[in-house]
Amino acid sequence: PLPPAFQVPLPLPSVLAPVSRSGGADRYEITQREATVEILPGVRTPLWTYEGAFPGPTIESRRGRPVTVTHRNDLPVPTVVHLHGGRTPAESDGYPTDLVLPEGWPDAAHVTHTGAGGPGHVMHDPRAVLTKLSRDYTFPLDQRPALLWYHDHRMDFTAPAIWRGLAGLHIVRDDAEDSLGLPAGRRELPLMIADRAFTADGDLDYPALDPTSRERPGVREPYLAGVLGDVILVNGAPWPVYEADAARYRLRILNASNARHYELEAITDDGRRLDLVQIGADQGLLAAPVTHRLLPIAPAERYDVIIDFSGVRVGSRVRVVNRLGSGRTRDVMAFRVAREVTDDSRIPRVLSTDLPTWRRSDAVRVRDFSFRAGRMHGGHGWLIGGLPFDPARSDVTAGFGDVEVWRLIADVHHPVHLHLVGFRVLSRRGRPPLPHDAGLKDTVSLRPGESVEIITRFDGYRGRYLFHCHNAEHEDMGMMANLEII
Ligand code: C2O
Ligand code: CU
Repeated sequence: PLPPAFQVPLPLPSVLAPVSRSGGADRYEITQREATVEILPGVRTPLWTYEGAFPGPTIESRRGRPVTVTHRNDLPVPTVVHLHGGRTPAESDGYPTDLVLPEGWPDAAHVTHTGAGGPGHVMHDPRAVLTKLSRDYTFPLDQRPALLWYHDHRMDFTAPAIWRGLAGLHIVRDDAEDSLGLPAGRRELPLMIADRAFTADGDLDYPALDPTSRERPGVREPYLAGVLGDVILVNGAPWPVYEADAARYRLRILNASNARHYELEAITDDGRRLDLVQIGADQGLLAAPVTHRLLPIAPAERYDVIIDFSGVRVGSRVRVVNRLGSGRTRDVMAFRVAREVTDDSRIPRVLSTDLPTWRRSDAVRVRDFSFRAGRMHGGHGWLIGGLPFDPARSDVTAGFGDVEVWRLIADVHHPVHLHLVGFRVLSRRGRPPLPHDAGLKDTVSLRPGESVEIITRFDGYRGRYLFHCHNAEHEDMGMMANLEII
């Protein structure tokens, strides 16, 4: 039985304590393990978790202060951790074949990947670095403050792993951002939005092709476009409610859904739409605030938004709804405005002055990539430039420090994500970018039939990275490519 909307209190993920802070770096330990969690009231749901919780615990970091996370794999399958949005050396970036093998998994030498086309297709990645039981991931975090997130990235199995619970937040801060006077402390809320489906027994329902052996990837035919759930979770709770002050709040929104898109609006009981004042994008603060009434958010995108409840009658509600949903998937969460308070937060007119200003004329190369459905290994696939992912193939080789323009073209909706670098949106359909394209991004939503130009500079580290569609099912069905920085 699904709970009524806006009854379950909004949970806030716990902040993970470091095991040590010595030597100029923070060290953390996370155990990946099965756990049974109450998501629907009164119902126990088995999950795969980071530290027994969904979302996993939040890591709070300072810009430029390195973090090492030891991930121990107590799950029944191999895992890979990727810090999405992190400027991370390649060996800690969670390349999909750099598996952490669990206890009792067949010997490292025998690890191959079947590919979503079925068991007949076997790939081998000679460069894969396998570890047994645990792995240290090191994140220098020498990057703009931003809301990042960590999630599983295992070859062919990312979508079911995230669906089962392997996702958590990682926030990077710095002094400049702290000094802006933005709403903070209790008035800064991370909101991880993700849809899920449940069986009558309260298990998560994922339409895997092969739900028992766990060796064959892929989803059943009706789900090839991506898996949607009929329950909207925020921070792991169904349609939650938050008791708010009549004040400004900073909402750090992540769409952690496998495939669902949202167009969020905030509506008062008397039908007013509140402004959503965007102050940041995937990769941190904008130059100046941008006001939205309707905020589109594709899988893996983050929006940093200020909402002001000061004009809302105490005792009334503000519903956050998804204009793209219908029936119960229209509701996302609600705020109940509980009390009048004084609020000394502010939204400065200038938020940051360090955004990259790459121009088209800086680009040494222009590349074109199509994101389209196609055939792979005899089955349905999702392809970049007509090809399904192959770890052994070289797709893009970029020179360290080079600025490039990429032209991305889509058949249906594809949220395209680049590892390592942030980029700026230059154009959509040959026209100027949309208001929500502002700032530095790492994921851009290609809408059906659309072409989008982005510009970036390949720096930070050299090595083997990825770019891919972040519809997690598309990603598992081939829509990923290698990005090598040399
Ligand atoms: Cu959020 Cu390659 O991933
Ligand atoms: Cu896609």
